[in-house]
Formats: sequence, C-alpha cells, structure tokens
Amino acid sequence: MVFPGLEEVAAEEIEGILKGQVKRKAPGLVVFRVPQVDAAVLQLRTVEDVFLLAWGTDKLSYRASDLKRIRAWTARDADWDRLLRLHHAIRPKPKGKPSFHLVTQMTGAHGYRRTDARKALAEGLAGKLPASWRSAEENAAVEIWLTIHDATAVCGLRLSDQTMRHRSYKLEHLPASLRPTVAAAMARLAQIKARQVVLDPMCGAGTILAEVLELARAEGIRLAAVWGGDLESNALRATGPNLRRLGHVLLARWDARSLPLPDRSVDRIVCNPPFGKQLSRPEDIGPLYQRFLRECERVLRPGGRSVLLASDQAALKDAAYALNWECERQVRVRILGQPAFVSAWRKD
Ligand SMILES: C[S@@+](CC[C@H](N)C(=O)[O-])C[C@H]1O[C@@H](n2cnc3c(N)ncnc32)[C@H](O)[C@@H]1O
Repeated sequence: MVFPGLEEVAAEEIEGILKGQVKRKAPGLVVFRVPQVDAAVLQLRTVEDVFLLAWGTDKLSYRASDLKRIRAWTARDADWDRLLRLHHAIRPKPKGKPSFHLVTQMTGAHGYRRTDARKALAEGLAGKLPASWRSAEENAAVEIWLTIHDATAVCGLRLSDQTMRHRSYKLEHLPASLRPTVAAAMARLAQIKARQVVLDPMCGAGTILAEVLELARAEGIRLAAVWGGDLESNALRATGPNLRRLGHVLLARWDARSLPLPDRSVDRIVCNPPFGKQLSRPEDIGPLYQRFLRECERVLRPGGRSVLLASDQAALKDAAYALNWECERQVRVRILGQPAFVSAWRKD
C-alpha cells in the first residue's frame, strides 16, 4: 500500500531494489511479485505497508453479490498455510496466546456495508487459521486486511507494522512535518549520486534529510555532504535529534532566500517549502518561490537537480521556467488535505 500518487515511484523502487515484477497498480496500491519473499520487502522506503497477497480483484460489481465472492475467494483462492508460513518466517510469532485481527477498509459507493464485507471475510476464513487462535484488537500476531476501493479489492496478511510508515528516527515532530514515504519518494526522484552535495534549505524537522541519508546508506552511495537549514530555530531543535543516529548533516539557521553558501556548490536540492496556507499572507507564496528558486539557481551546479513539493504548482512553475529550469517529472499527491505536486527540475 502506498501513499496515493506514489504508485509509480514505489513501483520503480520495487523493481530496482527487490528486482520485483510489478503486476498491477491502482490508487494507493502496487501489486508485485518477488523472486523470493523475505524480510527485504520491509526495507522499501516509499511504501506505507507491505502485505502477502491472498487474493485480489479489480472487478467488484458494487452489488451485494460481491459478498458471496469475497467469501469464496477467501475460502478457495488463497493458500493460507503457505501464507502463514511465509508470514512467520518474516515476522516471528510473539510470545503468548496466538491471536489474529481482521481489518476491513472500504471506500466507494457499494451496495453493502464495511461490516458486511468483514463478515464475509471472516466466514471465508472459517477453518483456515489454527483453531486455538483468538481474535484480538491489539498486538495480534497476524493481521488480515481486506481493502476495498471502488471496484478493486485486495486481501492479504500484513508483514509491516507502523514503524514502516512512521520510521523509528522520528523522535521529534513538527505540525508541518512531511510524511516519511513522501520524503523518501522525493529523495529517489532526485537521482542522488556518489560524491554529491545534497541540500534541504527549509528542512523543518529534517524528514527529507533523514530519507536522503537512509537512501544513500541503503544504496551504498557515499555523499560529499548533506546540508540543511531553516528560518526557525524551533524547527532546527527538532532536526538535530531526528538525524543524530542517521549520519552527519551540517545544519544552520538561515533564510533560504539568501543562503550563506557559495555559488555552484550544491548538486541536489530536495525541499518542501511552506504551502500558501501556512503563511500568514497566502498571497506571498509567489514572491517566496521566486526569491527561493533564484537562490537555488545560484547555489546549484550546472546540471544540478531540484525536487520540490508545492501546493501552488502554477506559482512554482512560473518561478522555475523564469530560470529556464526543465521539468523532468511531476507527481500529483494530496498533502494536508489539498492537491500538491512533487516536481523534479533540472538546471541546464
Ligand atoms: C512545510 S515545512 C518543511 C517540513 C519538513 N520537510 C519536515 O518534514 O519537517 C516548511 C519549513 O520551511 C521553513 N521556512 C519558511 N520560510 C523559510 C525561509 N525563508 N527560509 C528558511 N526556511 C523557511 C519553515 O520554518 C518550515 O520549517
């Protein structure tokens, strides 16, 4: 399961890191096959959760007859013994009485309720789990999820836990802090290479810097330097503890419109500037982007890249095109309840 909008980027990570074969993409979902199912699937950084697929369909009818099919697919189409063996190999059973938890999520206008779908799942599972297992709401050894989104339904065993999406480095939170999987996608889109200098000039709690360091570690990329800064000392107080265990980052308090950095000293800028609604005067967003991007242009080396997350994409494009930057890629997401874009730019 992925943050909606990141399907393509996650598919690229799955193919690149796991040598997986992507079978299908749907909003919030990437279905893939790997040569070998092992704990490496939990190393993915652009995905929110990983499941062993029991069954899936993109042909729900929205009618109550789907319930019969959910029951039948659960009972007949999945090899639960094998799925449980794979699950236990990756996530050893916790001590104590074995327990399971059924989770059902449903969006779309279906002619049945979520509780009906859950009941159909439970009925299909009858006799499939060991008889001694009990249902538990919390800390269950096994979670079986049924996710229905419009005509698509997937049912699977959850391999990940919440540390996959929330990360264990996030000790300090800020209200505007970015979701780690989105930051990881931005780091990937930056196409970071060895011996490069990477900068987040408005780093907040440092999520992007953390994901840059993690990406470099996972892919064995030795960076020349990672730099970050923010206007607010409050933000920087959160950044230090979040990054301490991940690697060395030079942090400074600065105004990103006037960076204390030499011309042409940076290879990659990965940044999530404030959204208009986070400013006291939202109409200031255009001038902020213009001054900020001019400064990025100054510190970037020729051929350098910027990956930026913005809600006002039109204002960002105006500022970037004025500098003759070339847009290499654009990914649509929803952040803080509003449409936003991650875009990757190249300075010629
Ligand atoms: C959306 S937040 C970034 C969140 C960050 N990516 C994280 O995950 O925590 C935007 C940040 O830009 C900072 N900021 C706003 N204007 C700035 C400026 N002119 N120079 C430097 N930082 C600025 C804010 O203080 C805020 O921390």
